[in-house]
Amino acid sequence: MTTATTLRSRHLLGITELDPEEIDLILQTALAMKEVGTRPIKKVPTLRGRTVFNLFFEPSTRTRMSFELAEKRLSADTLGMTTAGSSVVKGETLADTARTIEAMSPDVIVMRHASSGAPHQIAKICRASVINAGDGMHEHPTQALLDALTMIERKGRLKGLRVAIVGDLVHSRVLRSNVLLLTRMGAEVCACGPATLLPPGIESLGVRVTTSLDDAIDGADVVMMLRVQHERMHGLFLPSVREYFALFGLTAARLERAAKDVIVMHPGPMNRGVEIASEVADGPWSVILDQVANGVAVRMAVLYLLAGTDGGHE
Ligand code: CP
Repeated sequence: MTTATTLRSRHLLGITELDPEEIDLILQTALAMKEVGTRPIKKVPTLRGRTVFNLFFEPSTRTRMSFELAEKRLSADTLGMTTAGSSVVKGETLADTARTIEAMSPDVIVMRHASSGAPHQIAKICRASVINAGDGMHEHPTQALLDALTMIERKGRLKGLRVAIVGDLVHSRVLRSNVLLLTRMGAEVCACGPATLLPPGIESLGVRVTTSLDDAIDGADVVMMLRVQHERMHGLFLPSVREYFALFGLTAARLERAAKDVIVMHPGPMNRGVEIASEVADGPWSVILDQVANGVAVRMAVLYLLAGTDGGHE
């Protein structure tokens, strides 16, 4: 594959906008960024003098902390805002928050929001590069990129890799970004979940769909378990947690159908005993903490490519 040397857009709003060469560029850059984390002084001057605002309108542990760490490793000046500590609780609109932020001239805005499309709205108002850190049930592009980096490190490739993505698919931005990325890079994706949790039209994205966990796992190189998102459920999607675990919970016994060297992934946070048994989450198949570590490198790569003083968008 010919690797691109820059990203076409000054924003990262979704995997939708990236072509395979750009995905490859981000992943190659992330591999190079990993070296910075092994140095005694884990810092480079790439974003010195750049200001990054982290706007988290929804809770986050992994994404928020890894963006902050990535920014600090690149020497950026960073500010954080969450809903609870901001004037959003006084009723300020997203557009007014955006205009207020724009008046402070940030170079990069990292944004998580419960509404699909909120980062796109900010990108129309602000001059800064906007990075989508998860918007509603739409996309979580840096999650899919760190997942891809983890698969490449463990499996050496994405092309032809058999990936089963299992769980609460209808509410999952991680599913959508992963399907877009993996199919674009030539992986074979199987999506599995209860019929009530399958997004309508998911087959049109080029994935095989099944409601049988055994069928999904059969011969899989990668099994990615997704969280049951109780907070986004406002209907009777599941009969009971016990029944869900019996049908869709990943156990060591069920993993025997997968490829011998299968890896198990989960974006976190996990519901142990709901979508995944602790014996699997903490077992030899699990690369869940590798995913967290790779999140820092991927976010460094994206920040560098969008806002770096040497090679990024000016
Ligand atoms: N994977 C993920 O987005 O986790 P957080 O919600 O903790 O950021």
